[in-house]
Amino acid sequence: MKFFVDTADVAEIRSLADTGLLDGVTTNPSLIAKSGRDMKEVIAEICDITPGPVSAEVTATDFEGMLAEGRYLRKIAANVCVKVPLTEAGLKTCKALSAEGTPVNVTLCFSAAQALLAAKAGATFISPFVGRLDDIAQDGMLLIADIVQIYRNYPALTTEVLVASIRHPVHLVQSAKLGAHVATLPPAVIRSLMKHPLTDKGLDAFLADWKKTGQSIL
Ligand code: E4P
Repeated sequence: MKFFVDTADVAEIRSLADTGLLDGVTTNPSLIAKSGRDMKEVIAEICDITPGPVSAEVTATDFEGMLAEGRYLRKIAANVCVKVPLTEAGLKTCKALSAEGTPVNVTLCFSAAQALLAAKAGATFISPFVGRLDDIAQDGMLLIADIVQIYRNYPALTTEVLVASIRHPVHLVQSAKLGAHVATLPPAVIRSLMKHPLTDKGLDAFLADWKKTGQSIL
């Protein structure tokens, strides 16, 4: 399973990329706004940090506007993946950009039918938002299960399921059990995956016992 980080915070991305565990990055207009920085500069910097796909989202809502923005964003770096919303214009843009060889992430997916359309439009990634479904008392994981099953039924569909709006480690584990290809995680969730109180407790005990031996490895 590939791990993307869902942020436009360059320092966080650099630090997580240093672990060697990062496969890509997703951003959205809200995350760019939170960074307080120029979008094109931020995307260029992120693309320099990681060779993996970096999703940069269009903000036009019509086909011609999305296509022009997508082509512009794609020129920033070879690993830019253009993100488009799951609307009629977004699907049309996805089809056109994909035909040009540009990877496309179709975002704001909330139904299996939408995910099927994105795959037919040639999306590289489909981004179902599990947390936002949970927020309105709908089980986001049921959507992941449906999409994974539907895509498996049609091996010609090569779109990868990129689980988005992940809020906690359980979302990640459930996504992995269902066979989702990618998870995009907030930095804090990635860091929380590395933590377990029994790991800390066990390490403290090992180090205390090791100290008693008076030995050193090097
Ligand atoms: C995905 O690409 C989105 O940027 C993100 O996962 C949205 O998450 P949120 O629902 O926590 O805003």
